Amino acid sequence: MRTAILTISSSVAAGDNQDLSGEALAELARTAGGELVARDVVADDADAIESWLRRQVKDGVSVILTTGGTGFTADDVTPEATRAVIDRDAPGIAEAMRAESRRHTPMGILSRGVSGIAGRSLIVNFPGNPRAIRELFGVIEPVLGHAVGTLNREPGQPSGH
Ligand code: MTE
Repeated sequence: MRTAILTISSSVAAGDNQDLSGEALAELARTAGGELVARDVVADDADAIESWLRRQVKDGVSVILTTGGTGFTADDVTPEATRAVIDRDAPGIAEAMRAESRRHTPMGILSRGVSGIAGRSLIVNFPGNPRAIRELFGVIEPVLGHAVGTLNREPGQPSGH
């Protein structure tokens, strides 16, 4: 499963903070069988996020995971940049992630992260904190293989179940 990971954080991009959430996401994705084909950091900049996402979609990356920039501050623009790229929403993933977050902290509902499909890529926004990554990765892990298989199925091809 070709996987790309983007950390969205102006402070990490400036070198002021370590990329702990990107590291956690990369480790969990690898453990889940993901082949990491890109791992980058950008500032909270909608154009930079959007063009990075479009590059991965063009490269045919199956799973695109982002961390950070999903909150309420004025520079949190990850959901908007993601929405500009996706063709179709996959709301169940974001809904399940927020529901799981809420079991850990009431602040969980403050993440505006979205999930959706662009071409044959699945894009999922995670909050920007390593603890949140560890709390939430288990929500998507069981469905990733099937989601990617479905995205690559030709129309009319049987589902196999
Ligand atoms: N979800 C989980 N599972 N665990 C967390 O600690 N933190 C919340 C929320 N979602 C959190 C979480 C907080 S405090 C914020 S502000 C939002 O995610 C947005 O985070 P972001 O702006 O870093 O993406």
